[in-house]
Amino acid sequence: MLCCSVGCLHSTVKWVLLLCFLTFCIQYWLNKKEHLTNGDEIAVLVRKYAGLKPKVAFEKIATVLRRMYPGHILPDEDMQWIFMNAGGWMGSMCILHASLTEYILFFGTAVETSGHSGRYWANISDTLISGSVRQWREGELEAHVYNTGDTIPHPMGNATAVYFEADTWMVEYGRGFIPSTLTFALADTFFSTTDFVTLFYILRIYAKAMFLEVNASLEDWKEYIKDNL
Ligand SMILES: *[C@@H]1O[C@H](CO)[C@@H](O)[C@H](O)[C@H]1NC(C)=O
Ligand SMILES: *[C@@H]1O[C@H](CO)[C@@H](O)[C@H](O)[C@H]1NC(C)=O
Ligand SMILES: *[C@@H]1O[C@H](CO)[C@@H](O)[C@H](O)[C@H]1NC(C)=O
Repeated sequence: MLCCSVGCLHSTVKWVLLLCFLTFCIQYWLNKKEHLTNGDEIAVLVRKYAGLKPKVAFEKIATVLRRMYPGHILPDEDMQWIFMNAGGWMGSMCILHASLTEYILFFGTAVETSGHSGRYWANISDTLISGSVRQWREGELEAHVYNTGDTIPHPMGNATAVYFEADTWMVEYGRGFIPSTLTFALADTFFSTTDFVTLFYILRIYAKAMFLEVNASLEDWKEYIKDNL
């Protein structure tokens, strides 16, 4: 009996240590690796088009992003607005770029909605093209209000309540360990709406975006080998 519990404790400790080690390695890699862009660069770009009709602004921003990051932004035919249910709110997103460590997407809602922001292993920022968002931070008694052109910070590890007005649209940039954000992003779809068509769309577009990144790094390697042989 005693033997068993000592054995159990032993294996639990091993797993916890392994998890800590993996977490440390991933965070080290996140801090060291080169990134495609950063939140400031995206915010500056989006602010130029804030206030335009969302459809027009999104088209212009996608065009500029394709020029800035060639080979890393999904082509027009893959751009798809997909419903997203998470934390009790419902919105719609259109993914432009996603890798293991970053993503860029369009996000918004045509009806007012609110809920839990999620607590992520990623730093996320949203720059508003239209509408308004209230962000109620943990431990505070008043919400922060963000309007067209503003950037909403969502640091890693923080949780907030979010309220989106109807017709609020934004561009979102996330940097961190992106696969870890999928559990929150998919939980409501899986356990609440059971809208498995949406689930399929989300997984398909993430796979397409990852494929684009693999292809881009293969091309980089080819260039590297050509230049060094
Ligand atoms: C993030 O959490 C920290 C610690 O609770 C807090 O000081 C900070 O204001 C929060 N920031 C946001 C944007 O929620
Ligand atoms: C998020 O930002 C903070 C402060 O700039 C930084 O220390 C942390 O490493 C960032 N996290 C990720 C996952 O990039
Ligand atoms: C892979 O990348 C190259 C160079 O960026 C591009 O010409 C090619 O069309 C890409 N292939 C696919 C399937 O995306």
